[in-house]
Amino acid sequence: MALYGVLGDIHGNVEALEAVLAALDRRGVRRLLCVGDVVGYNADPDACIALLRARDTQVIAGNHDLIGTGQLGFERCSNKARYSLKRTRRRLAPASVAWLAALPPSLLIEDRFALVHGGVRDVQLYMSTPQHIRRNAEFLRADFPTARACFFGHSHEQRLYGVAGEEVRELPINGVYHLAPEQLYFVNAGSVDAQRKRSHKLAEFAVFDSSAWTVEFHRVRYDAAATEAKAAAGGYRITPLLDRLYTWRRRLLPA
Ligand SMILES: [Fe+2]
Ligand SMILES: [Fe+2]
Repeated sequence: MALYGVLGDIHGNVEALEAVLAALDRRGVRRLLCVGDVVGYNADPDACIALLRARDTQVIAGNHDLIGTGQLGFERCSNKARYSLKRTRRRLAPASVAWLAALPPSLLIEDRFALVHGGVRDVQLYMSTPQHIRRNAEFLRADFPTARACFFGHSHEQRLYGVAGEEVRELPINGVYHLAPEQLYFVNAGSVDAQRKRSHKLAEFAVFDSSAWTVEFHRVRYDAAATEAKAAAGGYRITPLLDRLYTWRRRLLPA
């Protein structure tokens, strides 16, 4: 049992990842868990991978990691994601491709909590409603019968859900939350990358104490302007014209 930093949806944003790692260092958190989407959208996928590897982070594959390495197609991607992932495919170092390709789809840690990216059985599912959580709680009970908590990402919003039988409750994310041992929890630590967020440009993560069975959500500042400038210069941002072209192509040539 230990203190874990839980992060995900880094999306090649090394400024945001460095800010999160510095915040975790200040709190003395040494063990890191990552729920996937290490690459995509931003210009520093190799640097993000290097930082995670240097800290022996336990990482699972997100849809961007699978698409960026050609293990999954672009069919369920937005235009923005598709464009930046094409750039990511061209830029990733061979060693990064090999590392991403070897990531597991999920993990069970300490026999008590699971990491998944989107849904428990669908890496591209956005778990954003109590109905999604209810359905995925069934999958979790079937696939990870000993798990009492499930950490997920993909939807890029900090969320905490408690599940008791068929009832799903969304819980407050301010302060230290004590998880009840008899309940099941779904936890989204948020998105390290905040470039596409309108509400704020803060990198999100959580600290999970598997001894005390508590979770605490955090947000930290990073140099979002520097990230954006690098992404634009590196060709990771779709132009309005190409955006329209992608949409027309999608309508004319449905998958
Ligand atoms: Fe993501
Ligand atoms: Fe994702």
